[in-house]
Amino acid sequence: MSQRVIISTHLESELVTALAECEHDKLFVLTDTTTQELCLPVIKNFYSLKHIQVITIPASDSHKDIESLMMVWKGLQEGGASRHSCMINLGGGMVTDLGGFAASTFKRGINFINIPTTLLAMVDASVGGKTGINFGGLKNEVGVFNDSKYVILDTEFLKTLDAENICSGYAEMLKHGLISTEAMWEELVSFDLANPDLKQLQRMVGDSVKVKERIVELDPHEKGIRKALNLGHTFGHAFESWALKRKPILHGYAVAFGLIPELYLSVAKTGFPTDKMRQTVTFIKEYYGTLNITCDDYDELIELMHHDKKNQNGIINFTMLGGIGDIRINQTATTEEIKEALDFFREG
Ligand SMILES: NC(=O)c1ccc[n+]([C@@H]2O[C@H](COP(=O)([O-])OP(=O)(O)OC[C@H]3O[C@@H](n4cnc5c(N)ncnc54)[C@H](O)[C@@H]3O)[C@@H](O)[C@H]2O)c1
Ligand SMILES: [Zn+2]
Repeated sequence: MSQRVIISTHLESELVTALAECEHDKLFVLTDTTTQELCLPVIKNFYSLKHIQVITIPASDSHKDIESLMMVWKGLQEGGASRHSCMINLGGGMVTDLGGFAASTFKRGINFINIPTTLLAMVDASVGGKTGINFGGLKNEVGVFNDSKYVILDTEFLKTLDAENICSGYAEMLKHGLISTEAMWEELVSFDLANPDLKQLQRMVGDSVKVKERIVELDPHEKGIRKALNLGHTFGHAFESWALKRKPILHGYAVAFGLIPELYLSVAKTGFPTDKMRQTVTFIKEYYGTLNITCDDYDELIELMHHDKKNQNGIINFTMLGGIGDIRINQTATTEEIKEALDFFREG
């Protein structure tokens, strides 16, 4: 893939390297209102950023929409951007998704660099080439696949990020560990997530993002093995939608919760070791708590799973594991098995 991921040791010089390879007449930085305040000061005095023009959009996923997209196009146009301009997306997944789409479409595409500032964006959203916006009430409805030229990862930005958003991003790291190696998984389930050591986390983020890169490289357009990245997401998306109607939860919490029934099914159907399932579940319960579903919610949850856009022909598609790193895509489960997995989620 054409995207280069840099695990930063010295942000200023890494940015110089990236900018040298993204020749540009003008340089733009896209932030949301929060990252403008908290993250832009970290980079704004760098010599290489002397002539930047800053474009700022409102924060949060509810603004990952056509209005914000137009604000970015307008900002680029009024700032005199040409096909040879470059934009740095400085923010969480909302900014990297929307900024990537804005850059990919403005003048048929200008170069962009992602500097993710949330853990979720570092290990997930900023790599893999998916860009886009929400539209017509549907998430990520309009967008394109296009890689940023560079992704620069620096956990320094996480100093200002709240604990919930740290946990949310970490759930995707847990998923990457489960589909990768025992050593990685072991380190993840032993980590003190309540008091994260940012130096250690920086290295773990580097390992984690490599798992996603490797899988995306094998299957950029989600035809097969990229489905490994859906682990935890079949139940996870249903939990997320269920919670949305009651008390919304962050995506990563839904994924962490989703890993529990999916690991249960992996034990039951594909031979995942029970002790490793238990250890992962204990970690999730400790740091994420639980979701208060009852058996009266099962039908609604199963209905939500049927409507997930990942499914075809009404069959619920699961990614399961035969062991850590032993990925089994395109698995199915009966309604009875799904209900058992939900029982386990509530009581296990
Ligand atoms: N493209 C992909 O492959 C992919 C993958 C996963 C998620 N996503 C998308 O990513 C988005 C979610 O990403 P997110 O969780 O980063 O959300 P986000 O970008 O909305 O960030 C969450 C909140 O944290 C704030 N923030 C960002 N950096 C901060 C910092 N360093 N300190 C303090 N506050 C900070 C933001 O302003 C926002 O209010 C969704 O739109 C989702 O669809 C995309
Ligand atoms: Zn996810």
